[in-house]
Amino acid sequence: MTETVKYLLDEAHLPRFWYNINADLPEPLAPVLNPATKQPVTAEELEVIFPRGVIEQEISTEREIEVPEPVREVWRQWRPSPLYRARRLEQALQTPAKIFYKYEGVSPTGSHKANSAVAQAFYNKIEGVRRITTETGAGQWGSSLAFAGAVFGIEILVYMVKVSYQQKPYRRALMESFGAHCIASPSNTTASGRAILAEHPDSTGSLGIAISEAVELAAQNPDTKYALGSVLNHVLLHQTVIGLEAMKQLEMANAYPDLVIGCTGGGSNFAGLAFPFLGTQLRGGPKVRCIAVEPSACPSLTRGRFAYDFGDTAHLTPLCKMYTLGSGFVPPGFHAGGLRYHGMAPQVSHLTALGLIEARAYNQLECFAAGLQFARVEGIIPAPEATHAVRAAIHEAERCRETGEAKTILFNLSGHGHFDMQAYMDYLAGKLNDLDYAEEEVAMALAGLPAVA
Ligand SMILES: Cc1ncc(COP(=O)(O)O)c(C=O)c1O
Repeated sequence: MTETVKYLLDEAHLPRFWYNINADLPEPLAPVLNPATKQPVTAEELEVIFPRGVIEQEISTEREIEVPEPVREVWRQWRPSPLYRARRLEQALQTPAKIFYKYEGVSPTGSHKANSAVAQAFYNKIEGVRRITTETGAGQWGSSLAFAGAVFGIEILVYMVKVSYQQKPYRRALMESFGAHCIASPSNTTASGRAILAEHPDSTGSLGIAISEAVELAAQNPDTKYALGSVLNHVLLHQTVIGLEAMKQLEMANAYPDLVIGCTGGGSNFAGLAFPFLGTQLRGGPKVRCIAVEPSACPSLTRGRFAYDFGDTAHLTPLCKMYTLGSGFVPPGFHAGGLRYHGMAPQVSHLTALGLIEARAYNQLECFAAGLQFARVEGIIPAPEATHAVRAAIHEAERCRETGEAKTILFNLSGHGHFDMQAYMDYLAGKLNDLDYAEEEVAMALAGLPAVA
């Protein structure tokens, strides 16, 4: 009998509902606060920057939320995405573990980000929004929203973190090809950008700064809303399509994961894969170890503090309770640009604090090495962000080799690295270093956390 390598679902099995983990949390999330009053933020306050459709999802505790048909129609172009059994990787590692990966690089823009971009563009469209502003780190989110904006006829303005803007000209070209406008952040087009540039003229930017610029513009213009590519409940909700599909595909393989692994920048691809399994566990189903993997140079979950903080640098956003390195912290310019965020999704943070999610951090060199080890047997070049998940999956499979345990490992290959080849070239030429974050900078940023009783 031949051994199956990829498990494919047909379009008829594309999930009709998202899974909302808020319905199954053992303790509710801490409320999002208005920074001026320190009271829970109201839906009306959020409406300044978000459409009502996503605000309803942000606060919902319904377990299942229907995916609108127009969103499923666009998704059908690449969803359901394939689930692979990494047979050649297993062989190369000589491990008894079974390794599966859900491959999100098949979307038009090459990552999971398109899942939420299409949904968010749809909710903006039905509320008559003319323009959406956003930030992008790696360029994956910005290009995904640019694609979704082109599909639904909405203007897209992207603030791209300056270091990525310089490292990845083709990502910018992709956004512009979809008709979006892309500006290097910090820029002099906003008060937040000008303030940063006045203090740090050479700033390489950060997701926190780019968010400030995008939010500022949306708050000032009634025809403009803002979209965030990660962190918030509704974004994580949209990404649960990944885990819901993976569950059905693993059934086809007669398997259930012992471990579920994803890289974490703001937490959306990790949560998208892990939450449906974690929810099943919370409702009395099989236990899974969920491992969130972050870069050592921006270790919010493993070294940050669980506290109320701003989501952006200029303090224009509400306060979220999350693991944070402090909103003033600017991570060093390592190559996984999508993981350079000072905070973490409140849902992922809450579940980590409750001991239901494990977190670990790796350096960039060992992640690139794992990415190449994977590419040379599986044939897919992982995005630098996704190499963190690959690193952890290989690590766990090697542990199985030592213990002889045949565990089932599932990880999220959140995107391909076709626009990140400069990073791979630099790695192969020996030009990359492991970047450490400055402890004193984090201490300073944490000292500036807002006081919340
Ligand atoms: C391919 C890829 N994976 C992961 C991430 C990290 O984001 P998140 O933690 O929201 O999945 C990014 C962010 O840009 C990305 O581009």
